[in-house]
Amino acid sequence: MNERPTRNLALELVRVTEAAALAAGRYMGRGDKEAADRAAVEAMRLVLQTVNMDGIIVIGEGEKDQAPMLYNGERVGNGMPPEVDVAVDPIDGTRPLANGNLNSISTVAIAPRGTMFNPGPFVYMNKIAVGPEAKGVINIEASITENLKAIAHAKNKSVEDLTCVILDRPRHAEMIAEMRRAGARIRLIPDGDVAAAIMTAWPESGVDVLFGIGGTPEGVLAACALRAMGGEIQGKLYARNEEELRRGREMGYDFEKVLTMDDLVASDDVFFAATGITDGELLRGVRYTGQGAITESLVVRGRTGTIRRITAIHRMDKLRQLSQVRY
Ligand code: FBP
Repeated sequence: MNERPTRNLALELVRVTEAAALAAGRYMGRGDKEAADRAAVEAMRLVLQTVNMDGIIVIGEGEKDQAPMLYNGERVGNGMPPEVDVAVDPIDGTRPLANGNLNSISTVAIAPRGTMFNPGPFVYMNKIAVGPEAKGVINIEASITENLKAIAHAKNKSVEDLTCVILDRPRHAEMIAEMRRAGARIRLIPDGDVAAAIMTAWPESGVDVLFGIGGTPEGVLAACALRAMGGEIQGKLYARNEEELRRGREMGYDFEKVLTMDDLVASDDVFFAATGITDGELLRGVRYTGQGAITESLVVRGRTGTIRRITAIHRMDKLRQLSQVRY
């Protein structure tokens, strides 16, 4: 950041994820992913514009022609220093939210301008993520078994004591088979690998490692969170077919390159915030009361490494007078 922020911008950012969660929470179980996403995006954008920063969205809702708001390249914030890159995922877990299931969150991260990885149009990334105790021992190019042995050694456990998390997808059949052969415990998740990556760095979660192919934007957001929390993630862009591979090469992307923490977010001066939309292991979902709502959020500041869990009680009558957000 040109002007290094002395204040904790993450405490401003949490207002952004709270607003998105409050707006999106209304759509729980209503079967309408698009409406939920629209509500979260609108609320998030309105509050982002009030944050003291000169931000450019690097990880957003896609290219401008498909995404009217929070598109990649859009300027956000009130235009004051610091100059920052911004990553947003107004809803990670749109499907579980629309279906009334667990583990849907809203997330935002910022880092100094030019430090976040720009994945272009490439949507999938193979990932391995761990918490602080296993930082420095993982290698995405090594086998799952080798990684499990290294993580177990670093955590002074046996491989049988480790819990791996992986998205429940047919593309992971081989990886899951290898984890089973190695003897590790496995948590198959239907969605939401940002929360799963964060859980590797959350001591009470019981999760040791995240493996598997998930969204590239989610990979960059997880990198911001883990950088701030002292963990590690490595990634490798994953092409779904020959055409994507060819396009990537033309655009200068290398699908063989290991994306380290420094490639994904090259600064410790990173801020990350997440708010629960539906209940999850990491965060409780939005609870509506007669007068308002209660939210639970996680806020992390890279420079200090402080992790805050924030419970907020929102008074809707007052908020509606002050804000354009449709709560
Ligand atoms: P969205 O809610 O933003 O669509 O993402 C949900 C998610 O589960 C991510 O957490 C994950 O990275 C990605 O989708 C996996 O993609 P796919 O469902 O195509 O396997």
